[in-house]
Amino acid sequence: DDGGSPAPVMLGFAQVAANTLDTITVPAGYKHAVFCRWGDPLFPESPAWKPDATNTAADQALQFGDNHDGMHFFPLGNSSTEGLLVMNHEYINPEFFFTPGVQSGATPWSLEQVRKGQHAHGVSVAHVKLTNGNWQVVIPSPYNRRIHVNTAMAITGPARGHALMQTSADPTGTVSLGTVNNCGNGFTIWGTYLTCEENFNGYFGTTSGADTRNANMRRYGVTAGVSSYRWEEFDNRFDYAKEPNESNRMGWIVEIDPFDASSTPKKRTALGRIKHENAAQTLAADNRVVVYMGDDQADDYVYKFVSTGKYDANTPMLNRNLLESGTLYVAKFGAGATAGDMMGTGEWIALVPSTATTDGSTLGAKFTDIGGILVNTRLAADAVGATKMDRPEWVTVHPGTGEAYLTLTNNSGRSATDEANPRAANIYGQIIRWREAGKDAAALTFEWDLFVLAGNPAHANVGTVPLQAGSSNINKDNLFNSPDGLAFDADGRLWIQTDGNFSNTGNYAGMGNNQMLVADPTTKEIRRFLVGPSGCEITGITWTPDQKYVFVNVQHPGEYGSHPRKPAVDPAVDPLAFSKWPDAAGGRPRPATVVIWKEDGGKVGT
Ligand code: FEO
Ligand code: CA
Ligand code: CA
Ligand code: CA
Repeated sequence: DDGGSPAPVMLGFAQVAANTLDTITVPAGYKHAVFCRWGDPLFPESPAWKPDATNTAADQALQFGDNHDGMHFFPLGNSSTEGLLVMNHEYINPEFFFTPGVQSGATPWSLEQVRKGQHAHGVSVAHVKLTNGNWQVVIPSPYNRRIHVNTAMAITGPARGHALMQTSADPTGTVSLGTVNNCGNGFTIWGTYLTCEENFNGYFGTTSGADTRNANMRRYGVTAGVSSYRWEEFDNRFDYAKEPNESNRMGWIVEIDPFDASSTPKKRTALGRIKHENAAQTLAADNRVVVYMGDDQADDYVYKFVSTGKYDANTPMLNRNLLESGTLYVAKFGAGATAGDMMGTGEWIALVPSTATTDGSTLGAKFTDIGGILVNTRLAADAVGATKMDRPEWVTVHPGTGEAYLTLTNNSGRSATDEANPRAANIYGQIIRWREAGKDAAALTFEWDLFVLAGNPAHANVGTVPLQAGSSNINKDNLFNSPDGLAFDADGRLWIQTDGNFSNTGNYAGMGNNQMLVADPTTKEIRRFLVGPSGCEITGITWTPDQKYVFVNVQHPGEYGSHPRKPAVDPAVDPLAFSKWPDAAGGRPRPATVVIWKEDGGKVGT
């Protein structure tokens, strides 16, 4: 009981209309500003960003990385005007990242270009401060830091030192160089940042001319031949034929202390090796630490980790090792008592040596030991019959009820359906939620239902696939596809970010550019809050403690793919052909952070 203070306003803003403008659209009464762009400085010695993409690898190591994704604001003290903004840099768009000669092959590929790309991946720690109404990066600051593909990290947990983690450069299997494809994120109640390695497979390939991938490499999709990044041509550890265990050292969650720029990041192998989307941390009834995680691939799985030790606010140094040991579980979503109602029951299956596999063996017999199980997490989950989901993306936990929500972004290749993934050829995606037995996050059973089936009410009869209109909380004014980023604010508003088809035609007509919406988890109402510029996705979300400012990331503006709105001029020739965001005179589009606030000084969303 809160003593009778009124419940917070959940959705107090006027919804914005879908659009295909090359700009940020926010509701009436809100303002936004752009900062922390790709290439912006972090240090006094950072060279200026060059609009013609001629910055060097050494320059890039001193600048914000590319394609910002997950992000968290760590206040300094309890400040809502000064803190550390920590963000992921997932990948690069070569057509914007390199000069045209490199993209076309006119300039020979070199180690310098490999290193420049590597330095644009990873994490930035930025000391930020609100000064005279403007959020700015504080330079110099002892906190500012770049972490990238060549930053030394300690391998911790059950796979530390395992034979499968040993390479010629690190025969002990204990020190990994760097992190890659940093997608979603997490944060812990003890003040650390979690960066999640997603599509690591795309950075490995071979110049050998032969496909010598093992079953593990095939399951994770390591490139059979030459990778599109071409790192293996100049950096042997990315050639799987030369270093067959190097890819085993990617696909983990890395814990970073943002308050100590000299600290060594820690790869937390107890949390499993998958294409990690994000990491949502909560506490079990007995204060063990629970982390929910999705593996973003069509027909892959949902996981949770439960720590061995318990969180204790009085022992901050011990909390720092809580992610070192525990049990990893994978989810099975069942139909429950009633068939066809898109709700049911589920169970968590432990990925430990004694667990029986569906073929009558055990995980221990198949993968030798716990380290072997964790390096082969996907294969272990296959062996116990986990539920194949429609691309599990972000998980978030309701701050009051403990209910967990998960975006299932889409799965156009699905044929066999089940209640949790009820559509074949699922082009729109859905959000599922579950309630653990006894409201205990460490429980081994749960109940689930679907919070929303995205869809298009105007295209209910397209094709032969049912349920295309979406659930009853989707209408002509709030329709969207491919929910991806997902987070509750402290009052329990559910913020939904999309990374989907922005063609605005056919099945996607009326959806416009990628966007951010806000939902009331009780009424299930959903309203559109923001529309992004051309070609982007909206991702990464975090608030100041007073909730007067929300920070989001605009990733890959100008990326056009194969959509019908592909520009007439190839952006590799004219980088501004599709998007000029955020600065028309900037030479090329740039991923950046957007901060949004309410002009009357209220909490965002109210
Ligand atoms: Fe990097 Fe699944 O998004
Ligand atoms: Ca059911
Ligand atoms: Ca994502
Ligand atoms: Ca994405």
